[in-house]
Amino acid sequence: MSATLGQHRRTKTISVTSGKGGVGKTTIVSNLAFALARQGQRVLILDGDLGMSNVDIMFGLKAEANIHQVITGEIEVSQAITPLGHGIDLISGGSGIVELNRLNSFERRTMMESLAALDGLYDYMLIDTAPGISDNVLYLNSAAQEISIVINPDPASLTDSYALIKVLNQEYKQSHFSIICNQVRDEVDGLALYNRFNEVVSRFLFVGLDYWGAISQDPLFRKSTQNQRLILKHDPTSESSRQLLNISMKLERSLVRKNEKAGLQFFWDQVVGVA
Ligand SMILES: Nc1ncnc2c1ncn2[C@@H]1O[C@H](COP(=O)(O)OP(=O)(O)OP(=O)(O)O)[C@@H](O)[C@H]1O
Ligand SMILES: [Mg+2]
Repeated sequence: MSATLGQHRRTKTISVTSGKGGVGKTTIVSNLAFALARQGQRVLILDGDLGMSNVDIMFGLKAEANIHQVITGEIEVSQAITPLGHGIDLISGGSGIVELNRLNSFERRTMMESLAALDGLYDYMLIDTAPGISDNVLYLNSAAQEISIVINPDPASLTDSYALIKVLNQEYKQSHFSIICNQVRDEVDGLALYNRFNEVVSRFLFVGLDYWGAISQDPLFRKSTQNQRLILKHDPTSESSRQLLNISMKLERSLVRKNEKAGLQFFWDQVVGVA
């Protein structure tokens, strides 16, 4: 574990989610974790793509333990932590475990309660979710302090993200979301995409959006994924690395203002309301 016991700074929880699949969540979470850890922050990634998790692959590793073993009581949550290097820890969501798709409310509570035991050991917990509006996605998002939604210019990404926001708002009372525009041509295009999306969302839903920035479509990005490398580490001077760094700074700044809601205890408390 890259964290030590007895420290009481609260853990900030951020989910990275999307309506449509394949928009870059896992890549973004991995690179943001790297950016934050390099600033000296203690970072835990929860791979919330339960049963289909792949954050470990991004770091060129294979996690031995996963959250399923914690839920079944086989191991303690501290034993489910896989160090990814760079000062980042991971709790894997397991791979090929169908049961994780159908967690009942007792199992979900067990999961959240176990995670709450890690409160204060990390500065940030980044949650990579599955795409869509499955129960697990809605549940993890609604427990997080900050929900960031990745969209791209594909019209289906916009309609699916709109649907996700609508469900989180109407069923889970979430009213604030941060938007990351990925796979855009440039930053001007990214802002235009955000403005278009914001206009539709604010016309029909009572929610507030915050813009966290854009990442350009970049062949280096895909290549990094294929080679199980982090673009921020291996191509730090590339345009997308600079854009990822900007997003991590925006994330840090926006969470400073919301410190009162922080903490894995809060993560757990939220669940009592929504489980
Ligand atoms: N800005 C970008 N430029 C080029 N390729 C990108 C960019 N962002 C993501 N990709 C590529 O898109 C693919 C999907 O990315 P990733 O696995 O991170 O998406 P995801 O949202 O986590 O997918 P899923 O919904 O299946 O979990 C990867 O090959 C990744 O390299
Ligand atoms: Mg993913």
